[in-house]
Amino acid sequence: MKDFTEYLAFTKELAFDSGKILSKYFGNLNSINQKTTSIDLVTNADIESEQLIINSILKKFPNHKIIAEEATQEEKNSDFKWVIDPLDGTTNFVHNLPIFAVSIGLQYKNKTVIGVVYNPAADKMFSASIKKGAYLNEKKIKSSSTNTLSKSLIVTGFPYLHDKKWEKSFSIFKDFYSKTQGVRRLGAASLDLCFVGMGRFEAFYEFNLKPWDICAGSLIAEEAGATVTDWDGSKYPESGKRIIASNGYIHKDSIEILKKHSSIFFEQ
Ligand code: IPD
Ligand code: CA
Ligand code: CA
Repeated sequence: MKDFTEYLAFTKELAFDSGKILSKYFGNLNSINQKTTSIDLVTNADIESEQLIINSILKKFPNHKIIAEEATQEEKNSDFKWVIDPLDGTTNFVHNLPIFAVSIGLQYKNKTVIGVVYNPAADKMFSASIKKGAYLNEKKIKSSSTNTLSKSLIVTGFPYLHDKKWEKSFSIFKDFYSKTQGVRRLGAASLDLCFVGMGRFEAFYEFNLKPWDICAGSLIAEEAGATVTDWDGSKYPESGKRIIASNGYIHKDSIEILKKHSSIFFEQ
């Protein structure tokens, strides 16, 4: 296997620099714009953070493909693809809640090989490179060893689009709530995945996410020992359509809950 560690330092530096931009705006926003709906927001911080990341990648790797939340890039022919959320947790950010992050993943031949999620408000840098483990700052992280749902704390999220699936998702929420020690909704999917990786939560599930919400965080969770799949236990879609990440021990029981409710979530 190719050695990707040279990309790790570059990606961490990039996340740190864009984190500085987010910190500059945090608590000082003077413009917030709506995207698809009145609760789907974008700020100058998202845009400036993304510009910095894209420009730095293009300068160093002009041939690499890039997909990022706020801008579309021209199609390129390369084995490398960067998948970027310049600000994950925008709603928290806008409300001065320090649960937000910059998330940068790198894929090689369609496989994620580097993942970095940086929360500047707490100066927490989560990182992983494939087959080399996952780290929080310089310390190796590991998912929890809790092996029953009844002793587990779960985290989830809900999409901006309030459609039929969204309605149905509350039955799943209720089911998890009744079988566990609790379910949290923090508002930044990339961090939810990292928190499964560091053992704070036993599992995270969500639907209707985007590739940039899950790319980096999934690798971090997996490298920390977590199991990441689709809601039926098969390989998770990189689109972010459905995802469950768990410590592995409670995966089967979690999938059972998801499967019970999930036919609508597999409809096109
Ligand atoms: C959102 C967050 C949130 C999730 C939403 C995402 P954004 O990303 O990850 O936790 O529930 O579905 O869209 O818009 O803050 O980058
Ligand atoms: Ca996001
Ligand atoms: Ca975002």
